[in-house]
Amino acid sequence: DMGGHDTYMHKEISEQADAVDRVLRGRIDDRFSTVHLGGLNLDAREARGVRRIKILGCGTSYHAGLIGAGLIESLARIPADAEPASEFRYRNPVVDPDTLYIAVSQSGETYDVLAAVQELKRKGARVLGVVNVVGSAIAREADGGVYVHAGPEVCVVSTKCFTNTVVAFALLALHLGRIRDLSVSDGKRIIEGLRKLPEQIAEILRTEDRIKEVAEAYAGAQSMMFIGRVRGYPVALEASLKLKEISYIHAEAYPASELKHGPLALIEPALPTVAIVPDDDLLEKNRAALEEIKARSGRILAVAHREQEKADHTLVVPKNEPELDPILMGIPLQLLAYHTALAMGRDIDKPRNLAKSVTVE
Ligand code: F6R
Repeated sequence: DMGGHDTYMHKEISEQADAVDRVLRGRIDDRFSTVHLGGLNLDAREARGVRRIKILGCGTSYHAGLIGAGLIESLARIPADAEPASEFRYRNPVVDPDTLYIAVSQSGETYDVLAAVQELKRKGARVLGVVNVVGSAIAREADGGVYVHAGPEVCVVSTKCFTNTVVAFALLALHLGRIRDLSVSDGKRIIEGLRKLPEQIAEILRTEDRIKEVAEAYAGAQSMMFIGRVRGYPVALEASLKLKEISYIHAEAYPASELKHGPLALIEPALPTVAIVPDDDLLEKNRAALEEIKARSGRILAVAHREQEKADHTLVVPKNEPELDPILMGIPLQLLAYHTALAMGRDIDKPRNLAKSVTVE
């Protein structure tokens, strides 16, 4: 049942304010400015002993894991990174007893992720899951974890589950942070930010007509570049994946700072750039990248907290706490991919060559 929407993708994008509300519900503890995660199965002493966190997932879940790693580093000050689960499996990784491993999966059935979890467990590692489907194989195999509560996701490409997974990581990062070095006031600041998300998501969704207009302006492109810096880079990766999956426009994502190390050679009027430009401490650096692109006559679509003078178009999103801004910046880009694909007449819910759940190697 699409509930009045033309596609499941549109329905699922539109459900995100409620979905985020669900992942937060019952977990916030205002008294101690922290969150409770019932199924985590990691006590305070164990949490303090974690020296490193390694996050494993595929596709969109891997991108959510990259943002999650950033959240964990900034809020809990634990070195963290994310890697595609299949790469991890095939490179015979060093499994370290002080590292906490986290497997991320919407379906909980992706073979590469499941196999990585099984290999880690066989070697004695502690593995948590950040999973959407309750009781799925990865959820069962993990030692504990956080359910994402996005609800059923039918469209082959992931949208609401991506957003909820990132919020679940914010909860985990806050929880670990408050056990370690995150102050009460920073805990409060993040909690207030989390509580604002559903209304801010609804606000972004109300700008859909404008996003559609912008998407139609770029729908003829052969190829598109996506750039972001630090927290913005995984947002660029995910937006570029979404666009290629459903529109079949070739797209690549680069860290903004890498442009001058090669990809700047591609910039010309026919190759538009989507730039993630939050109003944070990197704003001036990001503006400099926009200038480099403009100097080569590249068209620019900025996703920002206010109009960007160097950009041809800006999609303005509401501001939250800097750590949580990537969550909001991803949402207009889901709609951008959607309306681009729609303008090109694509079969959005069933992109060619893709399956919802990849249970083979
Ligand atoms: C992209 C997409 C895929 C999945 C990937 C992992 O829109 O849906 O990239 O994210 O196949 O699937 P899960 O999260 O079920 O492990």
